[in-house]
Amino acid sequence: MPEALRSEELGKTYPHGKEPALDGVSLRIPAGTVYGLIGRNGAGKTTFVRIASTQLLPTRGRVEVLGFDAVATPREVRARIAVIPQESRPLYFLTIDELVFYHLRMRGMDRRIARERTDTVLRQMGLADRANTLVSRLSGGLRRRAMVAMIFASDAELLFLDEPTTGLDPLARREVWAAIQKARHEGRTVLLTTHYLDEAEALSARLALIERGHVVVEGTPAEIRSRVKYPFRVSLPSSLSEAELAPYGEVSGVEGGWLVFAREDSARELTKLALDKNLAVAMAPISLEDIFLQLVGRPLTEGDALAEEGP
Ligand SMILES: Nc1ncnc2c1ncn2[C@@H]1O[C@H](COP(=O)(O)OP(=O)(O)OP(=O)(O)O)[C@@H](O)[C@H]1O
Ligand SMILES: [Mg+2]
Repeated sequence: MPEALRSEELGKTYPHGKEPALDGVSLRIPAGTVYGLIGRNGAGKTTFVRIASTQLLPTRGRVEVLGFDAVATPREVRARIAVIPQESRPLYFLTIDELVFYHLRMRGMDRRIARERTDTVLRQMGLADRANTLVSRLSGGLRRRAMVAMIFASDAELLFLDEPTTGLDPLARREVWAAIQKARHEGRTVLLTTHYLDEAEALSARLALIERGHVVVEGTPAEIRSRVKYPFRVSLPSSLSEAELAPYGEVSGVEGGWLVFAREDSARELTKLALDKNLAVAMAPISLEDIFLQLVGRPLTEGDALAEEGP
């Protein structure tokens, strides 16, 4: 499959920065897919997006976007991408309709097509009844939706969305999800950064978890699952003691009881033990959130958290 984005050992140290914000990130983003970039605050996600979208120069490595080097040929790249930055400042003196329409015209789109696409996207994003409202009068969440509408209406082949759903209500969030899925069906590529791991998992074909400028784990959600040591979670009541649970896996105290991360056979055994004692117990595969905890939630080294057969 051709790649929409390929970075090689991409690095960035900001002026006066002690540690590099990005420290050798090599990613391959297949064309026509949604790719999730996840990681804690300050991990380097926005830095990656800014470099790949030609807004910032790397201090080492290279990145190719849709076949063009982002540093050597930024104009070629810019013509083919659209970006919603994390801190977006739309043009406040425009209405929502104008914001979208002029953006498309600025990209060189024919007037009639721009008109059609503007109307369609505003309908899709639930903004049609506010089309003539000034952006300056909108709530933060609606402003964000207007920005999302603006770039989805464009004909860009690669969309960079840096936390597009932060601060949105649950319904608006679903509208953004639908827009992302639609972009994928149209054959476009989406690079999505998010702190919502359910969102990352629901939308992304592949994910990269970055921490302190390094890729900690990369792959399809299923691959990532298979690489953690404890792929199951068992929740148990507090009437059991930690010492009883410890042999089964990794125990942590949570509100109202215990959470044990375990391998499948241990998880089953533990569940059976609790059922035999007539205790309330729940066993499930771990969520991406749990994986995140196992990998970076505590000062674990990578080697400790990954299974022996992992990389
Ligand atoms: N303009 C800048 N000058 C100096 N340091 C910066 C600058 N922008 C970011 N950094 C630093 O680079 C590191 C990575 O920041 P970045 O914004 O890429 O993280 P992020 O993963 O997007 O975080 P968040 O989830 O909070 O948005 C952080 O340590 C940050 O403090
Ligand atoms: Mg960021």
